[in-house]
Amino acid sequence: MEPTPQIPTLRLADDAAMPALGLGTWKSAPGEVGAAVRHAVEVGYRHIDCAAIYGNEREIGQAIADCLRAGTVAREQLWITSKLWNDAHAPEHVRPALERTLADLQLERLDLYLMHWPVALAPGVGMPRRPEDILPPETMPLERTWEAMAKLIDAGLTRHIGVSNFSRQKLARLQAGLPQPAMNQIELHPYLQQRQLVTQCQAQGIQVTAYSPLGSADRPAGMKGQDEPILLADPTIGEIARQHEASPAQVLIAWALARGTAVIPKSTNPQRIEQNLAAAGLALTPEDLQRIESLDRHRRYVEGDMWTPPGSPYTAASLWDE
Ligand code: A2P
Repeated sequence: MEPTPQIPTLRLADDAAMPALGLGTWKSAPGEVGAAVRHAVEVGYRHIDCAAIYGNEREIGQAIADCLRAGTVAREQLWITSKLWNDAHAPEHVRPALERTLADLQLERLDLYLMHWPVALAPGVGMPRRPEDILPPETMPLERTWEAMAKLIDAGLTRHIGVSNFSRQKLARLQAGLPQPAMNQIELHPYLQQRQLVTQCQAQGIQVTAYSPLGSADRPAGMKGQDEPILLADPTIGEIARQHEASPAQVLIAWALARGTAVIPKSTNPQRIEQNLAAAGLALTPEDLQRIESLDRHRRYVEGDMWTPPGSPYTAASLWDE
């Protein structure tokens, strides 16, 4: 494997080039995330995936500013994504939410701004504690939030807009006469391959980003099931890794890139940050890809059950449309 391989790019519908391998920052702790972002940019990452709800955008913003000031990289070489939190779906709250994110990130414009979930919360709610914190979908239609998102491009505050955690049915609602999302960021890994959703998005010119590509074993205990399978310990992935003298994480990242998706593995560890970038140089064989395909079991690590407590207007079925 090359030590510093070329990172592949994805072409968005308007032909913009997005680096397909980025650094994830969900769960990257304040006090650690800044050093992780600086290290990532220094070793060659050009795409950082952020979100307001991760609670670490100010520190990331400082790290980006440090890299720009040091001349490590120029702003136009970086791809910065962030996400609108669910409590700001009201059209009048969309632009102020992005302005807050831009101030925290010390940026004038994002490359990509995503609607984080197809779920609206009452203003000021981070995570719902009571059913009434979750707004019934009919009172805050996704189409209205999306119209407000589209205005952010004309205002020069983001180059592209997209969505996250959207099913085919919910995407179809946005496509009816409105600007098409450039991206759908969804959970994807060998245990949750979502082939139909990926293929359909790609066929329609909506690029796809894989989140939790390593199985997000560091997510909060409350989000974990009992006896859940550990993706990084999967024997088939381990065997393929050994054959290539690579790590299991590198196989998972290379698999995501081989499918033509973007992928945003999270790490705050300098060696693992480097190792994950080097996965761009790992070429899996058709036989490897076939073996990984057989691992699919439709297993979500991020089940969205925070949106479906008793009394919520959402169920798992209405959230995922499955
Ligand atoms: P750490 O941040 O200590 O490196 P995901 O991207 O699916 O959310 O997974 C993130 C988890 O995977 C974190 O616990 C992260 O830990 C760990 N991780 C990241 N890169 C690697 C790697 N190359 N090998 C093993 N674990 C990794």
